[in-house]
Amino acid sequence: MRGFGTRSRRPWLWLMTAGTLAAPQALAGQAREAEVVDSILALMTLEEKLGQLTQWTGSWSQGGPTTVATKGAGVRAARVGSFLGVHGAAHTREVQRLAVEETRLGIPLLFAHDVIHGFRTIFPVPLAEAASWNVAAVERSARIAAVEASAHGLHWTFAPMVDIARDARWGRIVEGAGEDAWLGSVLAAARVRGFQGTDLAAPNTVLATAKHFVGYGAAEGGRDYNTVDISERTLLETYLPPFRAAIDAGAQSVMGAFNEIAGVPMHAHEALIDGMLRGEWGFDGVVVSDYNAVQELMLHGIAGDSAAAGAAALRAGVDIDMVSDVYLRHLAAALAAGQVAQADVDEAVRRVLRAKYRVGLFDDPYRYSDTTRERTATLAPEHIAFARELARESIVLLKNEGGVLPLGRELGSIAVIGALADSAREALGNWAAAGRPEDVVTILAGLRAALEPGTRVVHARGTGVAADDTSGFQAALAAARAADAVILVLGETESMSAEANSRASLDLPGAQLELAKRIVALGKPLVVVLMNGRPLSIPWLDQHVPAIVEAWYLGVQMGPAVADVLLGDYNPSGKLPVTFPRTVGQVPLHYDHKQTGRPPVDTLKYTSKYIDFPWTPLYPFGHGLSYTTFAYGEPRLDRAALRSVDTLTVSVTVTNTGTRAGAEVVQLYVRDDVATVTRPVRQLRGFEKLELAPGETRTVTFRLGPDALSYYGPDLTPVVEPGWFTVFVGGSSAATQSAKFEVVP
Ligand code: NOJ
Repeated sequence: MRGFGTRSRRPWLWLMTAGTLAAPQALAGQAREAEVVDSILALMTLEEKLGQLTQWTGSWSQGGPTTVATKGAGVRAARVGSFLGVHGAAHTREVQRLAVEETRLGIPLLFAHDVIHGFRTIFPVPLAEAASWNVAAVERSARIAAVEASAHGLHWTFAPMVDIARDARWGRIVEGAGEDAWLGSVLAAARVRGFQGTDLAAPNTVLATAKHFVGYGAAEGGRDYNTVDISERTLLETYLPPFRAAIDAGAQSVMGAFNEIAGVPMHAHEALIDGMLRGEWGFDGVVVSDYNAVQELMLHGIAGDSAAAGAAALRAGVDIDMVSDVYLRHLAAALAAGQVAQADVDEAVRRVLRAKYRVGLFDDPYRYSDTTRERTATLAPEHIAFARELARESIVLLKNEGGVLPLGRELGSIAVIGALADSAREALGNWAAAGRPEDVVTILAGLRAALEPGTRVVHARGTGVAADDTSGFQAALAAARAADAVILVLGETESMSAEANSRASLDLPGAQLELAKRIVALGKPLVVVLMNGRPLSIPWLDQHVPAIVEAWYLGVQMGPAVADVLLGDYNPSGKLPVTFPRTVGQVPLHYDHKQTGRPPVDTLKYTSKYIDFPWTPLYPFGHGLSYTTFAYGEPRLDRAALRSVDTLTVSVTVTNTGTRAGAEVVQLYVRDDVATVTRPVRQLRGFEKLELAPGETRTVTFRLGPDALSYYGPDLTPVVEPGWFTVFVGGSSAATQSAKFEVVP
């Protein structure tokens, strides 16, 4: 019981240790948790309860945090139960002290923050991490983020973002794992495990939040916050699975989504929150609103006043009101008017107290606010070393014609062109938590460190990212002309993706394509490195540039990672977690589309395609090249027929047919050839990343049980239907090696 003062300020502490609890030590696990939580609840006034359901933001000025000055009175009055954006061991301790020492009940605060891809050691943006297809590495990235965040006093992260995104216009596509529900589910669970570790009460773990529940990625037109209208089937098959996986992995919190689904705003969606999430899935953690979203129920037009908005959200199952203060100010009126029940308020408070109990705050409210740990954990050398490893594993080699890459170290000079090449801020990507530009090694700095003095590295900006500015063209072209090879860094600024950064075009912004055309015309060995947070439509580059590297935003070690790949010190192994369209007009575009009654045939007019563009993607989901090549054998099945309860074993040999060691993500897709309900042309149902020496062959074995072969049948319950299936194996979703098997009754 370190850190606690007098008994009078925390009457529940007395209950916890000696009072009404007959033998607290004897009560294990959940029983003790319930006893403690209920004992505290019994002491609370309605105002104190509404305070627990209220979340505020911290305040900062140039000189540092100012939360105590601006919000201290509210904390002392127990009007708030958690904070967003209060971090730092000293800052959190200061604010926590007010809650623990200066409120009637002394209930500790929870401190939350958007720790999305690292806290101070910034890792690749989540979409990039997904491109690694390395589940253990993604878990480790979240683990390290939690180690650093918790050392800065944080108990809770608003991550992982597990929204499936199939429309690259939507800026938030950068925050998730891409377009696929299977990959998204595996990575959602990995991230939860990473953040929460094996012991939530340990001081280096944080509560994870699966967000945004649900369907947010299906915003009409890819416009952020826009209306969503999808079928129950699409919800079940595509958007809900990663949430289910996160909950099954133990995620302690869920955040609501800003959108409506078919007329019901998610913050008032009783059927999905209270019904499915809590009822069917048994989620017993806390549901937090998104920023101001409770209040926004009025703008959605389903609540006439704040009391009605608060009542609708609470009834649906939203426990914590992030910043709108509707619960704090209006739930008492809603209660008096009978719009909500006291039991609903109590249940929400219980869930908040439970979260506090689970991270150990009732044992020691200051356990996370440790300046020594803050010092040693922040930017620890092993964190930075791992950031480089994950960054290079997140890079996807989109094209490499004529073996332009890797670049040889014998080159006399290299021109590095593009504003993004030397921008530390952009390398961090969006949602960079406490990341700082001064921690970053840019692409230019990474190349210089790797190449100089042997090779001269010259930089020219060429043009900005967004502006139609050609004033730097001449200098850039001169630098390119004088060099033996050119590395052209193109893309988007970090603020062109993530929240409220939807785009109506997927083309390279500004004068960048024009610059690329001029440089291509020089005929120099050329590599384009892309920095972006979404698939871009780059058909011209694909046609005219021999080597294209997708580098996303890779965080603090972006430069060394890109240099490792360009110079061949690391053989690229990333694979796209999203489809790259040829043009924005093709979106939403995803590999697991339906066949339709008129599948596209180039030579047949009345089939499903476009008259002005191919219907196919530029780069398919799962695509990614290596400096070596891999050959796949035919998939071998352990039986030709199985029953719906059985498990099929599929083996495939993969050979490294090139001269370099390399890693390959072996992907397995399944198609249910004939079903009662139409099925996608193929769906990812397994993958394994393996390292192969030159000439080495290995066999990969997948086991396909009912979870991989079932779908939501006509009545929307899972079923494995008898009939023929096809299994495809290969290095992308365009894999052609296949075999058939039959499920028999
Ligand atoms: C709004 C975003 O939608 C959400 O993802 C984030 O966690 C909150 N703001 C808090 O920053």
